[in-house]
Amino acid sequence: MNNQDKIKKLIDLRAEAKLGGGLKRIEAQHKKGKFTARERIDMLLDEGSFEEFDMFVTHRCTNFELEKSKYLGDGVVTGHGTIDGRVVYVFAQDFTIFGGSLSETFAIKICKIMDMAMKAGAPIIGINDSGGARIQEGVTSLAGYAEIFERNILASGVIPQISAIFGPCAGGAVYSPALTDFIMMNEQNSYMFVTGPKVVKTVTGEDISIEDLGGGKVHASKSGVAHFLVENEKEGLMLLRKLLCYLPQNNLEDPIITDCTDPIERKEEFLNEIIPESPNQPYDIKDVIHLIVDYGEFMEIHRNYAKNIVVGFAKFNGQPVGIVANQPNYLAGVLDIESSRKAARFVRFCDSFNIPVVTLVDVPGFLPGSKQEYGGIITHGAKLMFAYGEATVPKITITLRKSYGGAHDVMSCKQLRGDLNYAWPTAEIAVMGATGAVEVLEGKKIREIDDAEERAKFIADHEDQYKEKFANPYQAASYGYIDDIIEPMNTRFRIIRGLQSLVTKKLINPPKKHSNIPL
Ligand code: HXC
Repeated sequence: MNNQDKIKKLIDLRAEAKLGGGLKRIEAQHKKGKFTARERIDMLLDEGSFEEFDMFVTHRCTNFELEKSKYLGDGVVTGHGTIDGRVVYVFAQDFTIFGGSLSETFAIKICKIMDMAMKAGAPIIGINDSGGARIQEGVTSLAGYAEIFERNILASGVIPQISAIFGPCAGGAVYSPALTDFIMMNEQNSYMFVTGPKVVKTVTGEDISIEDLGGGKVHASKSGVAHFLVENEKEGLMLLRKLLCYLPQNNLEDPIITDCTDPIERKEEFLNEIIPESPNQPYDIKDVIHLIVDYGEFMEIHRNYAKNIVVGFAKFNGQPVGIVANQPNYLAGVLDIESSRKAARFVRFCDSFNIPVVTLVDVPGFLPGSKQEYGGIITHGAKLMFAYGEATVPKITITLRKSYGGAHDVMSCKQLRGDLNYAWPTAEIAVMGATGAVEVLEGKKIREIDDAEERAKFIADHEDQYKEKFANPYQAASYGYIDDIIEPMNTRFRIIRGLQSLVTKKLINPPKKHSNIPL
């Protein structure tokens, strides 16, 4: 073979590798409304930036005559490229080769790319579309998964790890995405479950469709496993590009501050009117968020899960921040098991990656009741407190209205090392609301009053007295627990000033192997 033949061989082999499992299977993939692994990578990365690794790897399995079916690349496309000019490492499982199932060599390819991402200090994005462990390989496939899991664990908090589920992701395979920071699913063909519908039927007798068991909608709203739900793959890949603009490359870097033309001192008069006169009337906290952040742009995470708390990324004068906000529009913004877990994980992510946290508080307390107690609200609520208390990133808290009881402490109060704690004049910072307080303090007297009108007047008078004393931010401000009471329309300006003042913040927790967050 002369040199020209050698070059031609390379070109031919590359062309063969790019066809994955062959044209027929690519066609089948397209028929299901799915893109191929390479098409997905091309859409995700900056044009022409992808550098592929290990295109010539094939499996080594000889069970069930598998040595007769070998495909270049062995079912996963790996490499690196850029998103908005910043390096990312990627792998995309190729369903056209053995259904994207994971073999020993397939796992080695993914591990190599994960190790490279760690060495380079760059994010890793995995696109999952796989039938799980390659059945013909047996235990080497299981070992391969465990090699990946261990790397997910060690990379956690060092580089951002993001998973897109664009096909099946079943059995133990779900645990690699679950160990990453964000999971994206789509409405059309994403499935995640530990055991599929057939096994569920056999073991428990439950009849359930694949969508109802582990579809994107279910995981984005009921289980909270998925952070993002998109209509289709293309939308999802564009969203992943956007997500990265809020994140640093690794835990030793800060997120990039971009130029901003949205005025810092933009006043929003509507904010002076947004809090209803009645404390029981809701409003949409997202209206507040959109009015204060740069260009009104807010990237919400877990939009359909635990809607009583809102979390997501935004920018203030070009500085990326994480926002955590109680949502009075849903369950009155109460803290419960799901909302505590959702916010705790988000705060910990932000803290891992040097992203300041802005907290907007309007919380009536923890949701009472046996369902919550039996479900362990004590432990789950403690997670959120732990996350805030442990976080060393800049923390700015604005109390808009209610901040009652334990929930006041949990929501980034001064004593959990809140750096700047501001309140609107409409804030009510107290042990509990007026009605509950009067019932506890005056209950005996109330029950002794026979006349209904007289009783109502007694309650109203005492509630007024209580509100006068506690349903305001001034008691907290008099102790310095609130640094300033601000006019709502100036909130954007005050947050930006605060963030600027905290740019050089350094806070180091006591040395330890690791903390023991109440899991
Ligand atoms: C080997 C597999 C495979 C697997 C699919 N294929 N899954 N090959 N190992 N796990 C092959 C099929 O034989 C077929 O090959 C091709 O991939 C496409 O599969 P189809 O069944 O034709 O596709 P579809 O109808 O879309 O169904 C997709 C599917 C189904 C739902 C994923 O293939 C399926 O149920 N697969 C098995 C899933 C499973 O039980 N996996 C093990 C989970 S347990 P040809 O040559 O015909 O194209 C697990 C443990 C992990 O993963 C533990 C980690 C700790």
